[in-house]
Amino acid sequence: MVNYKDLGLVNTRAMFAKAVDGGYAIPAFNFNNMEQLQAIIQAAAETKSPVILQVSKGARNYANATLLRYMAEGAVEYAKELGWAHPQIVLHLDHGDSFELCKSCCDMGFSSVMIDGSALPYDENVALTKKVVEYAHKFDVTVEGELGVLAGVEDEVSAEESHYTRPEEVIDFTSKTGVDSLAISIGTSHGAYKFKPEQCTRDPKTGRLVPPPLAFDVLEEIEKKLPGFPIVLHGSSSVPQEEVDTINKYGGKLPDAVGIPEEQLRKAAKSAVCKINIDSDSRLAMTAAVRKVFVEKPGEFDPRKYLGPARDNMKKLYMHKIQYVLGSEGKAAD
Ligand code: G3H
Ligand code: 13P
Ligand code: ZN
Repeated sequence: MVNYKDLGLVNTRAMFAKAVDGGYAIPAFNFNNMEQLQAIIQAAAETKSPVILQVSKGARNYANATLLRYMAEGAVEYAKELGWAHPQIVLHLDHGDSFELCKSCCDMGFSSVMIDGSALPYDENVALTKKVVEYAHKFDVTVEGELGVLAGVEDEVSAEESHYTRPEEVIDFTSKTGVDSLAISIGTSHGAYKFKPEQCTRDPKTGRLVPPPLAFDVLEEIEKKLPGFPIVLHGSSSVPQEEVDTINKYGGKLPDAVGIPEEQLRKAAKSAVCKINIDSDSRLAMTAAVRKVFVEKPGEFDPRKYLGPARDNMKKLYMHKIQYVLGSEGKAAD
């Protein structure tokens, strides 16, 4: 049993309260390996931005739960070495799908967990979320719940039918469960194909797909029902077209990949949305850099020679999100 406080991590409570008040959002970046973690910590330390290290069930299986606990502890020490005197780093379980998984994370150094009961009938979602909250709060671990179903794939659950969060449910859900934050569905979705081409229009100048806007009216309704309550947006990668172009140029095949435009995320970050989840953009940045090296230097077989550029490209992406999209730069400078 290890408590996150012993690892130098923090939970999301104070971080979210400041972000909601300050009109910015905390980046929640998924990671699976050392290079992603290095890039996230370098970007957060250089910009003095609070940051959420996010680990899915699949990532935890991939990286190993014990190794992860030490990687998180190492991340805090690394941040200090980079000159960030008081790092504000959260280790968060992304899309927890059972009480047992959430408990295991609370017991192994996570400072925050998500229990995703969004695919369950409402009452079952309430019951499961409440059970996780009751356990997690004993250790001051914060909990994210979810209402509404995102389009596409919610982790291993295929969401055939997406639906927006129903504002009339949010007061009942948050008061019955005691969650610390609420993930909502307003039109974002996971992955690099967030919208079908037929849902988009085409920019006549560039020929690029232009996605439909997010349902800000639903977000506003939710904010009215829950003033000041921390709201989370999943599926918030923008799918940068330059990374997609690089991947396609160097032998990849990602036709019509499309994400959430940055202006929409900037607008969301100014609202009660205080956590924005980004995974796919990092995958794209990594893949683009690796593909480029493989094509340009076919004789190269030292992993540092392609994972190094991949790490640099991811760091650039994370810095951009912090500085120009979420507005979290300098918010953990003291
Ligand atoms: O929301 C899903 C995240 O992007 C994690 O994906 O389950 O493939 O690690 P994963
Ligand atoms: P993206 O696929 O848009 O990066 O979303 C990631 C996410 O929501 C992780 O929970
Ligand atoms: Zn998600």
